[in-house]
Amino acid sequence: MNAKVHTQRRRQLMRMMGDDSIAILPAAPSLIRNRDVEHGFRQDSDFYYLSGFPEPEAVIVLIPHRKKKQYVLFCRERDPLKETWNGYRYGPEGAVELFGADEAYPIDDLEDILPGLMEHCESVHYTIGLNPEFDKHVLNCVNSLRRGSRRGTHAPYEFVSLDYLLHDMRLFKSRDELRLMKKAAKISVAHLNAMKACQPGMYEYELEAEFLYEFKSNGADWAYPSIVGGGANGCILHYTENNKPLNDGELVLIDAGAEYGGYAADITRTFPVNGKYSNAQKEIYELVLAAQEAAIKKTKPGNHWNDPHNAAVKVLTKGMVELGMLKGKPAELIKKGGYSKYYMHRTGHWIGMDVHDVGDYKVDDEWRLLEPGMTLTIEPGLYIPSGSRGAKRWWNIGVRIEDDIVVTKE
Ligand code: GLY
Ligand code: MN
Ligand code: MN
Repeated sequence: MNAKVHTQRRRQLMRMMGDDSIAILPAAPSLIRNRDVEHGFRQDSDFYYLSGFPEPEAVIVLIPHRKKKQYVLFCRERDPLKETWNGYRYGPEGAVELFGADEAYPIDDLEDILPGLMEHCESVHYTIGLNPEFDKHVLNCVNSLRRGSRRGTHAPYEFVSLDYLLHDMRLFKSRDELRLMKKAAKISVAHLNAMKACQPGMYEYELEAEFLYEFKSNGADWAYPSIVGGGANGCILHYTENNKPLNDGELVLIDAGAEYGGYAADITRTFPVNGKYSNAQKEIYELVLAAQEAAIKKTKPGNHWNDPHNAAVKVLTKGMVELGMLKGKPAELIKKGGYSKYYMHRTGHWIGMDVHDVGDYKVDDEWRLLEPGMTLTIEPGLYIPSGSRGAKRWWNIGVRIEDDIVVTKE
């Protein structure tokens, strides 16, 4: 994504914020993994969406009413010694030259400078509570303004959640964003490598390695920790231990997707470890596949967010009654939630920079209408752990099929 795209996004956000307001957005913090080892740094998605700036210890400030000083970036200063140890920093100079900041200052000067940027603003667009450490800086700035108000200036009157405007922007993907998402999906076709490599007796982590290799060799990373669950582990929705052997006659459920250019893919496939489905496995697999196809058919403009889910639930419930897994009338089982014994999650979620992406699912208490440019997963499944009454034939079968869908005009 080039700097122009970020400029356009900031301008669009500032137009919606209106004058008399200011937006403040901190970068993601670095997180300690153990003692002095850090987790790999991943920029906050909102921050990256608006700036493309990849470093921690940085803060975006947007001030719509200032004609030529709308975008201020606070960041770490250049420091030859620290850069020798820990890597390159752009510094405030780089923030202006390469990232389109109108002004940039050292992060250590934040509390000296930010009150002055706020002083004519009525509302602060800032999401309180996400980063309690940073909340303190913002409140210090507001309080210092309140204490020292000069004539004609005042502390802001209100805080408005920045999510409200920004997350609706992120919900609609541009052509450039879709290009990155398609690339992330393409790299995630590592699923085929795992299918080819799989043999009874291998360990789940050996299949996970197929994904890590493919992701890294394509300049990508994982969008979330891969789930590789053989047999009964396929019935654990967020299984990530991936340390058990893969047994002959069992299924393996793999939920794994790449993150490329800041955008996620989220794909699940379930296949037999020995290459051949048993009859019981096939029954469940084909039912889940039919549910996915029905849900995808309902994923089109004008339909409600919930329509694909309802379509999947209908197919699954009817199918489970026909197979004998559930007893009763499908309509009644749907109404009373009887199906949720084996299908306990929803059929999808928004996907984008975050695998479970931002954006409201309801507007004014009504399911949102699907519109072109929205991207979501469709991921029905059935999970039948051992001990499930009346379903012994299907014990330890867990099947999910998940793909990523973009709503288009057609
Ligand atoms: N991989 C997480 C999910 O499918 O929602
Ligand atoms: Mn998934
Ligand atoms: Mn998903």
